[in-house]
Amino acid sequence: MKKNIMIIILAAVVVGTACQSQNKAAMTYNGKEVGVYTLQNKNGMIVRITNFGGRIVSLIVPDENGEMQDVVLGFDSIPDYYPENHSSDFGAAIGRYANRLRNGQITVDGKVIQLPRNNGPHCLHGGPTGWQYQVYDVESVSDSQLVLALTSPDGDNNFPGTVNARVTYTLTDCNELEIHYEATTDKTTVINMTNHAYFNLNGDGRTTILNHLLTLNADRYTPIDSTYIPLGELLPVEGTPMDFRKAKAVGTDILADFEQLRNGNGYDHNWVLNTQGDSTQVCARLESPTTGIVLEVFTTEPGIQVYTGNFLDGTVKGKGGVAYPQRSAICLETQKYPDSPNNHWAESNAYLKPGEKYNSWTKFKFSVGK
Ligand code: BGC
Repeated sequence: MKKNIMIIILAAVVVGTACQSQNKAAMTYNGKEVGVYTLQNKNGMIVRITNFGGRIVSLIVPDENGEMQDVVLGFDSIPDYYPENHSSDFGAAIGRYANRLRNGQITVDGKVIQLPRNNGPHCLHGGPTGWQYQVYDVESVSDSQLVLALTSPDGDNNFPGTVNARVTYTLTDCNELEIHYEATTDKTTVINMTNHAYFNLNGDGRTTILNHLLTLNADRYTPIDSTYIPLGELLPVEGTPMDFRKAKAVGTDILADFEQLRNGNGYDHNWVLNTQGDSTQVCARLESPTTGIVLEVFTTEPGIQVYTGNFLDGTVKGKGGVAYPQRSAICLETQKYPDSPNNHWAESNAYLKPGEKYNSWTKFKFSVGK
């Protein structure tokens, strides 16, 4: 009897493993197949992505002792990412417009369009059913690359234009995860895509990221009001807690008596990158003194939203049943400056017109410190 049970368990494990390596879709959401796809390189780095919201569900990299650590928060089961179960952005490919749009409004061809207001008076991350809550189609998958695609109809969350978007995830043998976003439209619209991974380079969601050393290649940032919406100015970081031009622990100044930190409930701001599209230079660097894991970010985007998990409060139970405490993760969201369509920042134009192509590229490179 016992032997039979063992055989059944072993068979189940083998089937489970086989399903995973074959990268087969296993369930459906809103009638579309949802699966988990595994990328793996010769160093044993593993990235698991679900086409539900294009979410990175695990990102497993070696630490300074050669032990493998999962450095992103998330859930063990895919249905936990569904909005009925949790309204989280863990690991997601956000669209059509990442970050906030003031009063949920944009002006297109002189006409004001009212979008959903799902964050106070504002529209956040493309509205309540942004692309992070939609099922992407799987265009192709191999051990090193996953290509997801989404057709967002005219009027999706009230945004104008049918948009064809594509997100390509590529894992290199240099422990780099590259994400390439592309989109076209048939009517003028706004596009701002990003990835919303919640990094914890300690590899332990029970701990905070306040010990992580952060460097931002940015002399300026976009200050916000108490509803997290940019005021329109680009202010120097010099002499303020916003200065990360030299490596500084995230926790050093986070409780400083500084209006911007009160407005953001911690760091929840966009930095104006000095790189301005030069993706050969590092725009952000993060290091855990606990594991020695280093993350360097490269991007074609002009800005990066740094969000220090201020709204996590121990109520969401993630992987392994861990209740994620406040500041147990940091998001490094490369993007256009928040609310770009309602400001006049030439370097951060988020409008996309028919015939144009939206192209955005970001690389997350993992290594260990010396
Ligand atoms: C925003 C935060 C928000 C979080 C939700 C971040 O991009 O800046 O304010 O709470 O996303 O996922």
